[in-house]
Amino acid sequence: MGSATGTDLVAAVSAAGGLGIMGCAGRDPSWILEAARGIRAATDRPFGLNLLLFEVQEEAMRAVLEARPRVFSTGWPWPDQDLRGYFSRAHDAGSLVVHMVSSVSEARRAAAAGADAIVAQGTEGGGHVGLMTTMALVPQVVRAVAPVPVLAAGGIATGAGLAAALALGAEGALLGTRFLATPEAPVAAGFKQAVLDSDGHDTMLTEIPDIARGRVWPGAWSRVVRNRLIEAWAGREGDLRARRSEAGPAMQKAFREGDAGGAPLFIGQEAGQAASD
Ligand SMILES: Cc1cc2nc3c(=O)[nH]c(=O)nc-3n(C[C@H](O)[C@H](O)[C@H](O)COP(=O)(O)O)c2cc1C
Repeated sequence: MGSATGTDLVAAVSAAGGLGIMGCAGRDPSWILEAARGIRAATDRPFGLNLLLFEVQEEAMRAVLEARPRVFSTGWPWPDQDLRGYFSRAHDAGSLVVHMVSSVSEARRAAAAGADAIVAQGTEGGGHVGLMTTMALVPQVVRAVAPVPVLAAGGIATGAGLAAALALGAEGALLGTRFLATPEAPVAAGFKQAVLDSDGHDTMLTEIPDIARGRVWPGAWSRVVRNRLIEAWAGREGDLRARRSEAGPAMQKAFREGDAGGAPLFIGQEAGQAASD
């Protein structure tokens, strides 16, 4: 989960019997290698390292492979990127490849390129998502890529959600939002409170955070809390493009300062279920 993951959270998930995955997108090689060392110091259980393929840097890719994680986790490639090239380099380094998709066609493409497992992520999820729901997407991906195993993601926060994912044909589930308000998550207190306060109705899909950062994210919308930042720009995306040089840094500053109104809060529709556990 990008900046919402840290060594404590990844190690805690792995030590508890899951597979913690560290978001490494945008990180430099020394940060990636240090993160892998930190996780290994805390647990001897397997873990994953994640890169976003549309903006992947060769140095980051090399550092991830040098760290030899059990799982190389990927997602969001450009249509013309050579997935097989990335996946076979990971296999040569001894890693399994788990690739996230938000459509059936992307799932077929990743399976054909040699992915060891596919994450089918529905639009309910926090962060960057597509438009298909988990309920509709998972069984179609399962059928399209069999016998490649599928993990369901998006909107899952409880054991009941995991059971539903298994009933849809998934072999397991990948959770993000559920971990945002945990003590181990390196997330500002105000952001954690927003997760606990949410009933999902206060989230929406938007391109505002990416426009403000000047990022073109192929095929994705962001699911975020409709806070002061989003209210200010919703329906005014053209203006935002024009005023990116002031809006982008203001948004980043709000994020750094833990201002839950001015920062993009990436959370899924199931956020409130974290509070009821
Ligand atoms: C704050 C946040 C940051 C995320 N960053 C990444 C990322 O860097 N790479 C990635 O593959 N997925 C990322 N995701 C998506 C998660 O891996 C996962 O698919 C998603 O959270 C599942 O939906 P859920 O939030 O409903 O559990 C992020 C999700 C959140 C909430």
